[in-house]
Amino acid sequence: MTDGPSVQRTLIVFKPDAVQRGIVGELLARFERRGLRIAAMRALQVDRSMAERHYAVHKGKFFFDDLVKTITASPVVAVVLEGPSAIPVVRAMVGATRPHEAAPGTIRGDYALVGLRNLIHASDAPETAASEIALWFPEGVIEYTRDVERWMTEEGAP
Ligand SMILES: Nc1ncnc2c1ncn2[C@@H]1O[C@H](COP(=O)(O)OP(=O)(O)OP(=O)(O)O)[C@@H](O)[C@H]1O
Ligand SMILES: [Mg+2]
Repeated sequence: MTDGPSVQRTLIVFKPDAVQRGIVGELLARFERRGLRIAAMRALQVDRSMAERHYAVHKGKFFFDDLVKTITASPVVAVVLEGPSAIPVVRAMVGATRPHEAAPGTIRGDYALVGLRNLIHASDAPETAASEIALWFPEGVIEYTRDVERWMTEEGAP
């Protein structure tokens, strides 16, 4: 099949609350189980200038300062995930921005209660995914395939 969903890359960031709660591995496992491939990963302490660049689209909003303070409060883990329709698939798995509105079964719906403690960031469109991946991984990502890919994607099917 050649008309299936195209392969995309998306950025997720496990925010300080996920690292502090010790659930990064548990949450990352959900994406691996879905079939997404890890194309890059790093743990880092975000500084103010990096936070302001990451959240540039929110500059001027009333919660901007809280956002910057929250993401710089403690280390984070950033990951690039890759797979068919990775951007909408990951957004759906993360759930609604306001966790009290997030559906059960989503990460926020299963683990979070309030907006500033919603555990994870995920790119929302191809353009933001590209710019965010460039910001968080200036050295680039790794390109490889896994043998199991052929059983989770339409590459090489049947
Ligand atoms: N009205 C609000 N009040 C307080 N905080 C907010 C509000 N809207 C968004 N935020 C915070 O800003 C972050 C970024 O907002 P955005 O609209 O991009 O949501 P999102 O795309 O679901 O989340 P993220 O970008 O973190 O994946 C949210 O994750 C949340 O922590
Ligand atoms: Mg967003």
